[in-house]
Amino acid sequence: MNLLRCHLWSLIFNKYIHQNIVCLRTIRILGIETSCDDTGAAVIDDQRNILGESIRNQLQYHQKFGGIVPNIAKQHHYENLVPVVAEAMNNIEWDSISAIATSIRPGLIISLWQGVNFTRQLLFKYNKPFIPIHHMEAHALTVRLTHDVDFPYMVLLASGGHCILAIVEDVDKYYRLGESNDISPGETLDKVAREMNLSEHPSVKDLVGGAAIEYLALQGDSSIFNLITSQYSAKSKDCSFTFGGMLSAAKRLITKHQIKYDSSMLNDQILKDLCACIQTSVVRHIETRIHRAILYCDYRENLTWRKTLVLSGGVASNLFLRKRLKDLCDYYSMKLVCPPPKYCTDNGVMIAWNGVERFRRNLGVISAVDEIIPEARSPLGENISEHVRNVDIHVPFDWEKVKKNKKA
Ligand code: KG4
Ligand code: ZN
Repeated sequence: MNLLRCHLWSLIFNKYIHQNIVCLRTIRILGIETSCDDTGAAVIDDQRNILGESIRNQLQYHQKFGGIVPNIAKQHHYENLVPVVAEAMNNIEWDSISAIATSIRPGLIISLWQGVNFTRQLLFKYNKPFIPIHHMEAHALTVRLTHDVDFPYMVLLASGGHCILAIVEDVDKYYRLGESNDISPGETLDKVAREMNLSEHPSVKDLVGGAAIEYLALQGDSSIFNLITSQYSAKSKDCSFTFGGMLSAAKRLITKHQIKYDSSMLNDQILKDLCACIQTSVVRHIETRIHRAILYCDYRENLTWRKTLVLSGGVASNLFLRKRLKDLCDYYSMKLVCPPPKYCTDNGVMIAWNGVERFRRNLGVISAVDEIIPEARSPLGENISEHVRNVDIHVPFDWEKVKKNKKA
């Protein structure tokens, strides 16, 4: 009898201890990013500690070709993955890693395969579960690593490959209010920078297109040229974006006024003015769409959707954009939150964090033997842009006047 009682106690005790060990065990995720031209890796725990991180950018190898060359990207990912993961894992035991998370969509398919194939080797070698990551979801959630932001919130993801305005309802629940119908704002700025030959300009030659334009725009006058047309501003009553018209208009101006940098240029003021102008056009277009999204939330009487606006993606590091959107947010008593610039661009930290968010809720965690197929295209969540359009919300284009009137 005593023996039986003892055995029962030991069973209960073991179960209790085991459960607590599982609960108390820190989640640690290794994240790997190779969706475009950055090879990134990081290890993060569920207490939001970044235990290791590493990144290698290939920009310099692609720049002279005027865009990302898939085979060059593939080769660099292949060479960089081993050292980047080793750096991120420095002094971290593989045994302490709970799972590996890797970008599998959307992105440059040849680059995604490099990350996936490498991850597969690690999964089998160290016997770990796998968390497939949607690259845009990772951008949308990064802010919850760097700031205290609760669901739901509004997010603008503006990068070289994307422009999406969405509501983040939960880790795996998104509503797309609008997205770009043609090119992204980052691509627009990169192409204008290329047309202006900014990669030769001594003050900005090491910067990506958008950052080069932002820097030169500081000394430019945006009113010298007019790229803003009502066509892509207040008239179309939705939250979708279009930057193609702006790009063509900028190209025409560059050709007409010969606004190209060359070393014999004595005065580069015209270059700075065009940088200011294209930056203002891009920013005002984005601002109008976000303004409409705010009014749409009001129409739906859903103020929690617009409590917070989060900016992420490479273009979100633009300080002029941040300033304009801060003014808009202040006007509507919203909080504007931006992850630090280094986490706005592609990196391994955002992938590892997305892994933590999914692992602790057991969302989409799979086994190494499951099929993992990267996808070049993959929409984020549900598209509600049609509904936004049907509501037909008017946004005052010259909304600065509205602001001033309210203050007066
Ligand atoms: O998120 P990201 O690193 O890569 C992806 O496209 O996924 O974004 C890169 C884009 C580039 O087009 C770059 O020109 C733009 O972000 N960018 C900027 C700034 N810094 C980077 N655009 C405007 N202002 C900046 N300061
Ligand atoms: Zn990205």
